Amino acid sequence: MARDSVSEQNGGSGDTAALRDAFGRAMQIGCAVGGRLPEVLSADERDLLLRHFGVLTPENCMKPGPIHPTPDSFHFEEADRLVAFADAYGLRVIGHCLAWHQQCPDWFYAGSRGEALTRLESHITAVAGRYRGKLQGWDVVNEAIADRGEGLRDTPARRAIGDDYVLRAFEFARAADPEAELYYNDYNIEEPGKRDRTLRLLEQLENAGARIDGVGIQGHWQLDQVPFDQLRAAIEAYRQLDLKVMITELDLDVVERPDCGADVSVLRSYTLAEDIYREGCPAPVLARQAEQYARLFEIFSAGGVSRVSFWGLHDGHTWLNSWPGPRTNHPLLFDRDCRPKPAYAAVLASAGRR
Ligand code: XIL
Repeated sequence: MARDSVSEQNGGSGDTAALRDAFGRAMQIGCAVGGRLPEVLSADERDLLLRHFGVLTPENCMKPGPIHPTPDSFHFEEADRLVAFADAYGLRVIGHCLAWHQQCPDWFYAGSRGEALTRLESHITAVAGRYRGKLQGWDVVNEAIADRGEGLRDTPARRAIGDDYVLRAFEFARAADPEAELYYNDYNIEEPGKRDRTLRLLEQLENAGARIDGVGIQGHWQLDQVPFDQLRAAIEAYRQLDLKVMITELDLDVVERPDCGADVSVLRSYTLAEDIYREGCPAPVLARQAEQYARLFEIFSAGGVSRVSFWGLHDGHTWLNSWPGPRTNHPLLFDRDCRPKPAYAAVLASAGRR
C-alpha cells in the first residue's frame, strides 16, 4: 500500500507530521535504539528516526555488562557511534544505565563493601566521564526498588555495599558528569505500593543531599491493562517532590504475558498457537491500542511529563518480540515497514486537543 493512503486510512492528513514537534518544547519524544548506528538502519528507518524522535536511549550498549565486560576492558565502540550519530543530527542522548542488577557481570560486586564501592566508582567515573558534557542525562540507578515487601530489591549491589549504594551511585555520577541530569528509573512505580517505596527512596536521596533531577517510569504496559488512574496519581506525587517525570521505555504489548512487570529475568515460551498475531495485528486490536495510547498521552501532557521515550523504533525493533519469549508483537506506533499505525494518528490527535 502506498504510504499516503496508509496515512489517510489512519486518519492522518496525508503526510506524517513529526511526533517530536507535536507536544511543543514541554515534552520531548524519543526512542530506544539497539545495534550500531547508522549501519544497521535502512534508509526508511533512518528517515523515521530522524523525523519523529528528538532524543535517543541506547537499548543495551551503555549497560554495565555490554560496556564493561571484564574488570580491565571497556567496550565503548557502539556507544561512541551512537553519541556521534546523535551529535551529527542534533539529537539528544540519555545514558542508560550506570547501576543495574541485570546485564551486569558477577565480578562487579564481588568482594568486600570497600572493593565493591571502589569498582562502582571506577565504572561510573570511566563511563559517565567518557561522555561528560555530551549527554542530556543518565539513568543512574535502574530498578532498585523491591517489587513486593519493603525497601530495596535484594541485589548483589545491595548485599555487597548496603542500601547506600544508590546514594553513592548518584554521587559518583554527579562527580563524573556535573552537567548531566541524573535520574532514578524503574518499572511499575505507578502501582501504589511500589510508588510509595519509590517516593521514600527519592526523599531519602534528596535529604542526603544527592543531586537527583528526575524519575523515569518505564511504561512497559499491556493492552487493556493500562493503570491510567494510578499513573495519573503517581505522576502528581513525583512532581510534588519537585522532580521531572519521564516515561522512559514506553510500549503497549498486544500479546498476553505473565504478570511480571518488566522483569527481564522472567522468561516463558510461546507455542505457535499462542503467537496469535504472527500474521499481523487485527484492526480492532490496533484501534484499542490507538485509543489507549491517546489516553496515555493525555495523561502525560496534563501531568507535565517532560519526556516520553518509546522502547524501540518500530514493531520490528522491539524487545517484546523476544521477551518474555519469542513471539510476534506490535507494541509501538510504527509497523515493521515503518508505516504509521492507528496509534500514531491517535497520539497526534491527542496533541491537538491539548
Ligand atoms: C532490555 C532490552 O530491550 C533487551 O534487548 C535486553 O535483552 C534486555 O533489556 N527495562 C530496562 C531496559 O530498563 O534496559 C530493558 O531493556 C527492558 C526493561
